[in-house]
Amino acid sequence: MIRDRVLGHAAPLEGATLLDVGAGDGLIGLAALERVGPNGTVIFSDVSEALLAHSEQRADSLGLSDRARFVHTAAEDLAAIPDASVDVVTTRSVLIYVAEKSQAFAAFARVLRPGGRLSLFEPINRLVFPEPDDRFWGYDIGAVAGLAARVRAQFTGASRDVRAMMGFDDRDLADLAVAAGFERVHVERHIDVEPGSSMNPVSFDALLDSAPNPNAPSTREAIAAALTEDEQERFLTELRSAFDEGRATRRMVGAYVAAQK
Ligand SMILES: C[S@@+](CC[C@H](N)C(=O)[O-])C[C@H]1O[C@@H](n2cnc3c(N)ncnc32)[C@H](O)[C@@H]1O
Repeated sequence: MIRDRVLGHAAPLEGATLLDVGAGDGLIGLAALERVGPNGTVIFSDVSEALLAHSEQRADSLGLSDRARFVHTAAEDLAAIPDASVDVVTTRSVLIYVAEKSQAFAAFARVLRPGGRLSLFEPINRLVFPEPDDRFWGYDIGAVAGLAARVRAQFTGASRDVRAMMGFDDRDLADLAVAAGFERVHVERHIDVEPGSSMNPVSFDALLDSAPNPNAPSTREAIAAALTEDEQERFLTELRSAFDEGRATRRMVGAYVAAQK
């Protein structure tokens, strides 16, 4: 699992001060709290106050909050974290939201003490999208491929968000780590293909309500904007039957970076 790999690459953790950047609801940070042990500390950082509060509640309910800190700060500067103050920086699926990735890497290097370690995972969307013509969020919609292309066009563009999510690959992550001054850098690319949709929807409605990023239109909105009513019906009928019959293939590409300052 991704969490265990990220923490595994950051080992040894016993007694460490670990900063989890973009901690979200605590997937990495809470597991890290167990692994740093009684002499370690985990700093949860995020741009979302609500998610930090949620992580704090979870740490509290596990009886671990005395060794946790919760800091509202952005990955691009980590302003609230002093220089050379942490042993380990972890982050998972956060850089995809960060336009200025070199600033985030510089901040990681700044807060790490000499010899400190960075361990991160990011999805590499550039190697997954655009999908093949006969696929839509992984669903086999070959019969309406032309309509799918028009719907898909609603999601593409040169916005800052799209560039942040799509505009880098595993080699760029290696280059960013080197440029930030990390002396040892190891990058692993993982490619997994399996049955299922990249959206992993719990229902057909959930699929229609899902969007590739928080500022993009939902799939439902994109379909309505791109197609006439007749076309919408044809497209939705095909998508629905692929959904009901489970005709879908998920292709996932992700990169792990382990680096030492
Ligand atoms: C997909 S979630 C990942 C959460 C967590 N790392 C995990 O593995 O479950 C992305 C997280 O990044 C945070 N985030 C987005 N932009 C950020 C930024 N510029 N600096 C720090 N955190 C950010 C979001 O608030 C959210 O908690």
